[in-house]
Amino acid sequence: MSVLFTPRSIGRLELPNRLVCSATYEQMAAESGEVTDKLIRRYEKLALGETALSITGLMYVHPSGRGYQHQVGIHADSMIAGLSKLTAAVHAAGGRIAFQLAHCGRQTTKAMAGQTPMAPSSRGRDPMNFVKPRTMSEEDIEKTIAAFGAAAKRAVAAGADAIQLHGAHGYLISEFLSPFFNVRTDRWGGSDENRFRFLKSVYQAVKAQVPEDFPILVKLNGHDHTPKAGVTLTSVRQYTQWLAEMGIDGIEVSCGTTHYSYMNMCRGDVPTTELMQSLAWWEKPVGRFMIGKLEGHYDLEEGYNLAFAKAIKPLIGDTPLFLVGGMRSVAHMESVLEKKHADFISMSRPFIREPSLARKLKEGKKNNVACVSCNRCLAAVPNGLPVHCYHKGFPAG
Ligand SMILES: Cc1cc2nc3c(=O)[nH]c(=O)nc-3n(C[C@H](O)[C@H](O)[C@H](O)COP(=O)(O)O)c2cc1C
Repeated sequence: MSVLFTPRSIGRLELPNRLVCSATYEQMAAESGEVTDKLIRRYEKLALGETALSITGLMYVHPSGRGYQHQVGIHADSMIAGLSKLTAAVHAAGGRIAFQLAHCGRQTTKAMAGQTPMAPSSRGRDPMNFVKPRTMSEEDIEKTIAAFGAAAKRAVAAGADAIQLHGAHGYLISEFLSPFFNVRTDRWGGSDENRFRFLKSVYQAVKAQVPEDFPILVKLNGHDHTPKAGVTLTSVRQYTQWLAEMGIDGIEVSCGTTHYSYMNMCRGDVPTTELMQSLAWWEKPVGRFMIGKLEGHYDLEEGYNLAFAKAIKPLIGDTPLFLVGGMRSVAHMESVLEKKHADFISMSRPFIREPSLARKLKEGKKNNVACVSCNRCLAAVPNGLPVHCYHKGFPAG
């Protein structure tokens, strides 16, 4: 039997295989942040497709950390009823679901938050929205940490099987970890130990709100790919060691940031036409120039974050490691698991295209995923479309 279909536990959570749907923003929530039937259907399909664990798209833990108009909210108790429907549907379909908890930090927009976004430091303007964030005060930091704890309590109340803290891709936790975004000189910045303090405090706040054995995962970058040094392999090796010592139940390794280096994060084709379509006429000249600079530089190399996994896994012992990024062939996935570079294979775009991918692979119907990394699913986000596979093109009109 393929190693892909051997069971593995994450703390108390026993999973039947090693195929995990990595967090993927769905753009399917109501504007109130409520779960919709469309969103439930997406996760139900993944569960019916025998995905071992589906990690939701980033949920905002506080309105100040909301980055997208159709993002799921876990910021208020009123969200619990809808979130419970989501977990009930997944469980009825035989699946397991983890909620990804996030604060978007500076990668949110004025329009979304109704206020200037906040970040560890106010350095520079956001390259996408041209907004300058404000520096978080000590009180902002404490309130945000508490918001993660409260959100975790809601996740448990709603029946989630696990939580993943979003510490990757340039959102708030990732910003604190990164010397590119975090130039503070107080106890929250200036050294790896201080930059790690925010994630450590969030973890502790979450831990205090969930049952003793409730699985808590974290997603981190192996490299930020920011214009100046951010998180690098050296710092992430230190962070993951500290997390393992603290008892984290699983670590997923990714790279890139949504606003500074999204093509590093995803790799593959640059969806130029579709990205251009999302711009207003006055943004098009600059947009064409910026997007044009990306073309031809991000070919998808299979398992492009593998080097990070190889460097991290020996430091964290039995703590499960999830490898995400360009995992596309069964042979490669099996080799990663057999060589013990990772314990789970995480995929995002392949599951957008094929929600029943895990079952198809189990039945031996195919050796490769169908996704060709055209990245039109990614371009759906700025175009305001729900995240689906648009390989055949965007809907007319
Ligand atoms: C449309 C889209 C939305 C995404 N949303 C999230 C998200 O909410 N949280 C997250 O951690 N990563 C998100 N990602 C990144 C993926 O989880 C994953 O790290 C990346 O796509 C590389 O994996 P893949 O090659 O299997 O697609 C998103 C990616 C795509 C394409």
